[in-house]
Amino acid sequence: MDRIQIADKEFEIFLENDQICKRIRLMAIQIGVDYEGRCPVFIGVLNGSFIFMADLLKELTIPCEATFIRVSSYQGTESSGTVREIIGITDNLKDRDVVIVEDIVDTGLTLSYLIGELRQQAPASLAVCSLLLKPAALITKMDTMQYVGFEIPNEFVVGYGLDYNGLGRNLKHIYRAKSGA
Ligand code: IMP
Repeated sequence: MDRIQIADKEFEIFLENDQICKRIRLMAIQIGVDYEGRCPVFIGVLNGSFIFMADLLKELTIPCEATFIRVSSYQGTESSGTVREIIGITDNLKDRDVVIVEDIVDTGLTLSYLIGELRQQAPASLAVCSLLLKPAALITKMDTMQYVGFEIPNEFVVGYGLDYNGLGRNLKHIYRAKSGA
């Protein structure tokens, strides 16, 4: 299935599942080496990270904990614009080695907000593991981005947890929007 249609958009294959899984195995080896003798807590950012988080953690052989959070954006009652809130955040991260697991970092705004909030709990360390990164879209400085699966062009992608208007998260491969589509 090289091309698919989701709602009004046509997508073409970009990263095959085999390629994604191979990369994840290497990332897990690296994380295993870096966190040897420790017990990090992995925090998956929903919804997009659920497949990546599962596949990554299945490849890890070090002891670890796993939990999920969601960052919601909503309009405040005041005219202050978008207000964010973290749902499901644990409050026991003090002195823990924390790894945030993201599907994709685009502008980096979600992540920098998240990092700011999690740092307030004084974790022993804080790292970010993202399957995808769009360097050209990044508008924030990201010095905690230790693990990146693939750097990709600034194009819209779907599949393997990522959605287009709520659809496509279940696709095995990652697809990109066809130009002009
Ligand atoms: P950021 O705050 O701009 O870095 O946005 C991060 C979030 O936007 C991700 O967690 C995704 O939910 C969503 N996102 C950004 N780029 C894409 C894309 O190409 N496809 C699907 N979702 C995306």
